Amino acid sequence: MCGIVGYIGKKQAAPVLLEGLSKLEYRGYDSAGIAVRGNGGKIDVVKTKGRLQLLIDKTENGNALFGTSGIGHTRWATHGEPNETNAHPHVSEGGKIVLVHNGIIENYAEIKEKLLSHGYTFYSNTDTEVATKLIAYYYEKYGGALEAIERFILRVRGSYAIAVMFADLPDRIYAARKDSPMIIGAGEDSVYLASDVPAILKYTRNVYYIENLEIAVMETDGVRFYNVDRTEIEKMPVHITWDAEAAEKGGYEHFMMKEICEQPKVITDTVNYVLKDKKIDFTEIGLSDKLIRATKRITIVACGSAYHAGVVMQYVMEGLARIPVRVELASEFRYRKPILERGELVVVISQSGETADSLAALREAKRLGAKTLAVVNVLGSSIAREADFVFYTKAGPEIAVATTKAYTAQLIAGYLISLKFAVVKKTISEAASAAITDGILRLPAQVEALLSDRERIQKFAAKMTGTKDVFFIGRGIDYALSLEGSLKLKEISYIHSEAYAAGELKHGTISLVEEGTLVCGVITQETLAEKTVSNIVEVKSRGAFVVAVAAQNLLPKIEKIADFTITIPETAPQIAASLAVIPLQLLSYYVSANKGLDVDKPRNLAKSVTVE
Ligand code: AGP
Repeated sequence: MCGIVGYIGKKQAAPVLLEGLSKLEYRGYDSAGIAVRGNGGKIDVVKTKGRLQLLIDKTENGNALFGTSGIGHTRWATHGEPNETNAHPHVSEGGKIVLVHNGIIENYAEIKEKLLSHGYTFYSNTDTEVATKLIAYYYEKYGGALEAIERFILRVRGSYAIAVMFADLPDRIYAARKDSPMIIGAGEDSVYLASDVPAILKYTRNVYYIENLEIAVMETDGVRFYNVDRTEIEKMPVHITWDAEAAEKGGYEHFMMKEICEQPKVITDTVNYVLKDKKIDFTEIGLSDKLIRATKRITIVACGSAYHAGVVMQYVMEGLARIPVRVELASEFRYRKPILERGELVVVISQSGETADSLAALREAKRLGAKTLAVVNVLGSSIAREADFVFYTKAGPEIAVATTKAYTAQLIAGYLISLKFAVVKKTISEAASAAITDGILRLPAQVEALLSDRERIQKFAAKMTGTKDVFFIGRGIDYALSLEGSLKLKEISYIHSEAYAAGELKHGTISLVEEGTLVCGVITQETLAEKTVSNIVEVKSRGAFVVAVAAQNLLPKIEKIADFTITIPETAPQIAASLAVIPLQLLSYYVSANKGLDVDKPRNLAKSVTVE
C-alpha cells in the first residue's frame, strides 16, 4: 500500500517527511518522493525509484530542501511501472499543483481522455497524474482550491487519499480521502498528515480521522474540516494510546489478522479492476476475445497457496467454460518436459511474481510456444514483465508470510477469468453469468459478516492447541479449499495436517483415524454434500472429532453429525471457497497465536521463495 505524509509548521519540513515515510516502509513500496515549498513559494520535488534510503541520500536527509511545509509518498505501484517518472508527488503544468495519492482511480482512463481533449499532456502512466491535472483543470476553470477538490471528489470513482499543495496558496495543504486510509495529527503550532498513525506518533498522539468525502485544510495554526459541499465540520481529536509497533499493524496484534480483515476491500478492488458496469473488461489485461475463443486447453502453474487457488480455478473454469484445465506444481512442471498443444494457454499464479519455480515454468511454457497469462500481485515483478498477458490482483503488499488476502484475490481473479472465458465461448447464459457476478459483488459484505463473528472460532481454536494431526476433507471445490486450509494450519501452527479428497480417505489414509483425531470437513457444494457427509460419518464412526465448515443451506445435513459447525452464508457454488476460507484462515491464526508462535514470520519460511 502507498504511504502518504504531510507537514506544515515551524520546523524544516523535509526531515519530518522523510522520518514519517520511514515509519510507513512496512506498508511496502517500490519508489518514493517528497515535495517541499521553498521560501520563494516554489515547490521543489525530489523522487527516487527503489528504497527510501536513496531519497534520504539524494536530499542529504532532507537538509538540501528548505521550507516548512511539504508532502511525501512511498509508492506501491498499481498503474504504471515502478520508476522515478511514475513516483509521486505528481505535478500539474508549471508546478502549480503538487499531489500525492494512495488508492486506485478506477475511471482515470476516461478522465485522461477528457483532459487530453482540453490540451493537457501527460508525462507518466499513472492514475495519480490524471488526478493532479483534473484538480488543476477545475482550479483553473472555477478558481478556489476547495471547489476544485470538491469537484474532483464528485468526478472520480475508486479509492483515494490525497494531499495537495497549491503553489499560490503557500500557507496551507489540502487533503481528502475515500476508502484509502489517512489521518491528521495536531501538534504544537504544526499539523501532520499520514496514511497511518506510526508516521506521526513521534510528534503527536492527537489524531483526527478524516471520513470519506471530507476535505481537510491544514495550516500552521491548526486544521479545519469541510464536507463535500464545503460547509465546515467540527471534529474532536482522538488520543492514540498504541505504541509504534502496534500502530504499524493498525492496532491488530499481527499483520496476518490485519490482512485477513482487509479481504473485503481486496475483493472489491480486484473485482473493480476488470468489472465495468457488471461486464468483465479485459482491455487492460490484453487477452482478446479472439485469443480466448482460440484457447483449447489451459495449464495452470503455481506453488503453495497460489497452486491451491489454481485448483479452485480449475474446477470453476472447467465447470463454466468447458475447457480442459490441468493444474501443475511449478517445481514439477519445469522439469517434466511438459507437452503443450497449439492453442494452449498457460496461467502462472504468483503473489510476489518472483517465485523461482513459477518464473522458470513461465519461461519453459513460452519456450514451448504457449501463450502465457500471469496472475500476480506485484506490478512490474519478473513474472508480470515476462508473461504475454497480466491480470493484476489488487491485494496491496502482503506482509505476513502466510498468505491470506493475496490468496483471496487470486480466487477472485480465477472466477473472473473463468466467467470471461465462459461468456466469450457462450458456454453459459447471460443470466447464469449475471447470477455469479452478483454473487461475487456480494462477497465483501459476506466476508465482513464472517469476520465480525470470529470470536466463536477463537474459542474453539483454544481447544486445538494440543492437537497433533488434522485432516481436511472435501469434494470438488471443497477439496481444493481443503488444500489451502491444511497449508494455513501447518505453516503457522506447526501442527501436522493433510488435505484429502473426501472420497479418497478410505483408500488407505483412514487407517490413521482414531479416537479424537481432528477432521475438518468442508461442505459448500450442494451436489456433493451427501457424499461428503457419508465420508464424515465414516471418520466419525472411527472416533474422529469433526469440525464442519458448511454452507448455511446445507447445515441440516451435517449439524447433527459434526462436533463443531461453522456456517458460511449461501452463495453460488463456484465462488463458495471465498467464504469457506475465512474460518479456516481464522482457525489457523488463533491456534498459532494461542501457541505463542511468530504468526507473521513462521520458522523456516520466506515470503517469496526466489530460489529453487
Ligand atoms: C502460502 O501461505 C505461502 N506463503 C506460500 O505457499 C506461497 O503461496 C508460495 O510460496 C507461492 O508464492 P507466490 O504466490 O509469491 O508465487
